[in-house]
Amino acid sequence: MQTPPAGTLRAAPEEILVSTVDYRVIDGVAVITLNNPPVNAIDQGIRAGLLESVGRLAADDSVKSAVLIGANDTFVAGADIKEFGKPLPPPTTIESLSAMEASPKPIVAALAGNTLGGGLEIALAAHWRVAVAKAKLGLPEVSLGIMPGAGGTQRLPRLVGGAKALDMILSGTPVNGTKALELGIVDELVDGDLLAGAIAFARKIVAEGRPLRVTSQLQDKVANTDPAIFADAIKKNEKKWKGLLSPYKIVEAVQAACTLPFAEGAALELKVYRETQASPQRKALTYMFFAEREAAKIPDVPRDLKPAPVKSAAVIGAGTMGGGIAMSFANAGIPVKILELKQEALDAGLARIKGNYATSVSRGSTTQAQMDERLGRISTTTDYAQIGDADIVVEAVFENMEIKQGVFKTLDGVMKQGAILGTNTSTLDIDQIANVTKRPQDVIGMHFFSPANVMKLVENVRGAKTSPEIIGRTMAVSKQIGKVPVLAGNCDGFIGNRILAAYGRECDFLLEEGATPWQIDTALQGFGFPMGLFLMRDMAGLDVGWRIRQYREQFRDKNQRYSPVGDRICELGRYGQKTGAGYYKYEGRNATPDPEIEALIVKVSADLGIERRKVSDEEIVWRVLSVMVNEGAKIVGEGIAIRASDIDVTYVFGYGFPRHQGGPMFWAEQQGLDKVLAKIRAYHAEQGDNWKPAELLEKIVAAGKSSWKDAV
Ligand code: 3HC
Ligand code: NAI
Repeated sequence: MQTPPAGTLRAAPEEILVSTVDYRVIDGVAVITLNNPPVNAIDQGIRAGLLESVGRLAADDSVKSAVLIGANDTFVAGADIKEFGKPLPPPTTIESLSAMEASPKPIVAALAGNTLGGGLEIALAAHWRVAVAKAKLGLPEVSLGIMPGAGGTQRLPRLVGGAKALDMILSGTPVNGTKALELGIVDELVDGDLLAGAIAFARKIVAEGRPLRVTSQLQDKVANTDPAIFADAIKKNEKKWKGLLSPYKIVEAVQAACTLPFAEGAALELKVYRETQASPQRKALTYMFFAEREAAKIPDVPRDLKPAPVKSAAVIGAGTMGGGIAMSFANAGIPVKILELKQEALDAGLARIKGNYATSVSRGSTTQAQMDERLGRISTTTDYAQIGDADIVVEAVFENMEIKQGVFKTLDGVMKQGAILGTNTSTLDIDQIANVTKRPQDVIGMHFFSPANVMKLVENVRGAKTSPEIIGRTMAVSKQIGKVPVLAGNCDGFIGNRILAAYGRECDFLLEEGATPWQIDTALQGFGFPMGLFLMRDMAGLDVGWRIRQYREQFRDKNQRYSPVGDRICELGRYGQKTGAGYYKYEGRNATPDPEIEALIVKVSADLGIERRKVSDEEIVWRVLSVMVNEGAKIVGEGIAIRASDIDVTYVFGYGFPRHQGGPMFWAEQQGLDKVLAKIRAYHAEQGDNWKPAELLEKIVAAGKSSWKDAV
């Protein structure tokens, strides 16, 4: 066995690792290295190799202890998610971990990088843990619709107590090494070479003759757990957990850890873990995990393009969106300059930003120190010469083509070559904006969602001339500022708003046919949307859309069905929440159904000669989802979206589509694309050409296929 020279960072650098689990002896300590790039996910190779190495350790007379470490600058990011839903070849992770705990020689886990899910569960089964301060330790399974299933719910409470374990497993949020030390998950921090530190720690334990510390046998931290914490957690989160399974199962399992012997708690954990693994929401949430990563892959952007991180940014316009976009840069550590033409507008914008940060501080989601640091990264100017050296500029001025073209002409003159020139337009043609510059290849849509500092989605919109390099860099900077980017083609509404227009239209028609806004909203909320369409419209304000409809009236095809309900409501001066009345009436933010609106809708139906009927909640959900799917399929067919899953990512991260339902296109696959097409055809016959079935969908079904992927 080759031993690396003293002083190397790792015992087993990747280039000399030949197996998934490497065993070698260094300084009298067995070093077991887990190596499954890129994140050392636990697959059969890791499970079997770990089990075998533990056996080898027991038989190896040359060593008295072992260090367990990860290759690839990380520990282990958990079970291999690609294996979910498939039968797993033996051994199980639980078998490997039981063998680790039963080892007669101490095993020290050395943690750096991601120590997540099954990765942390491996570490918890070691006798001791050392970590670097920046390591990320957590049990994020809940976000995949499952729960820790290899002893995590039983061992973590035994190290940190029931309440803290419950918090950590329910939130799924990792802690760093320093916090893990404070919580008692980690026994020592290593400053510098992790392997050397871990070996020194292992030798110290042996020299001191410390007895083995077996996590599953510890009782003192769970012995006196307050039984109320479990019911309290459920009560506090009931609204957030609506429709979800795994948080409830986590509570059950942690409660078992605090009340039952380890073996019984572990048996319960395995039983409920399997229930979560078998649930449809696990399938949807796992799908979303990969869909989010897939969305960042653009066919004509080379996979090896690894753009340098953006170091400085500029934003034009300090309004609602500009302020939020600037905050997103500042929050990610990037200095940002905001430009307006007038100082008063800058002052007003900065005051709004300060107000937003102050609210975060008062809610406890940001500390005062963080707020000061972030605000310190935001500066303002009225002088274009001051922003020319920024790596990226995002324009967020009024939604007006002439104004935007003027801004881009100026940017063309001042920005350094190679800067990303982004526009946050929601409705305008990117090419018309790009073509006023001498560098249309550098111009790209960056459609943020409101509030831009909170919403995860950025729809990046490629113009006809946008270069693949700029696209790749824009996708990368979107991730750098913590967003989930999707690439869209340049069309009216891009991906998200184009689908929203189609489903909004059907909701309006449903009103005329017999439904009420509150029935539709309740039905959509029942499906899992946090807010129904009409509540959303009222919140966003109805007047902007009304003004756009008034402008577009001249181009409207008068042969197509058109619902005047929204116009009638605006004519009454009801612009939504901000005027105290819209589809609903309001006291503050509290909406109540309004008989006046119901009467208005009934009158519209009568004026149009539509006989109102009883509309079922099931019809509402099916009609809304089918129209989303049909429009989505057209968008993919036209190449506006690269793949169907990008539509799901857009809807989950930008439009509140319930993540555990996986997005509209995933939903359609679960129902059966043939069944959804049959519905669309029936609506087409009944409602006319708005419902013309998407060619892509027709083709897939005609070929007897069942997945959007079969179209490619
Ligand atoms: N299984 C399989 N593949 C994984 C994976 C996993 N657990 N974690 C990451 N990957 C893959 C990604 O799909 C991606 O593949 P690609 O390059 O082909 O797209 C690649 O690894 C790199 O991942 P990211 O692009 O996400 O890289 P980042 O550096 O941005 O993030 C990460 C790394 C924080 C580890 C992030 O990938 C992550 O959160 N992974 C999932 C962690 C997790 O949920 N673990 C729990 C799994 S469930 C479990 O352990 C069950 C157990 O209790 C029994
Ligand atoms: P806003 O009216 O709140 O802000 C616009 C700001 O731009 C104002 O502060 C104004 O003073 C400034 N401005 C106008 N002309 C300028 C110029 N020539 N130079 C510099 N600054 C100038 O508008 P909002 O809502 O922030 O919208 C901005 C852009 O974002 C629009 O293109 C809009 O379509 C888009 N958008 C808006 C969303 C929203 O929910 N409000 C969502 C997504 C995109």
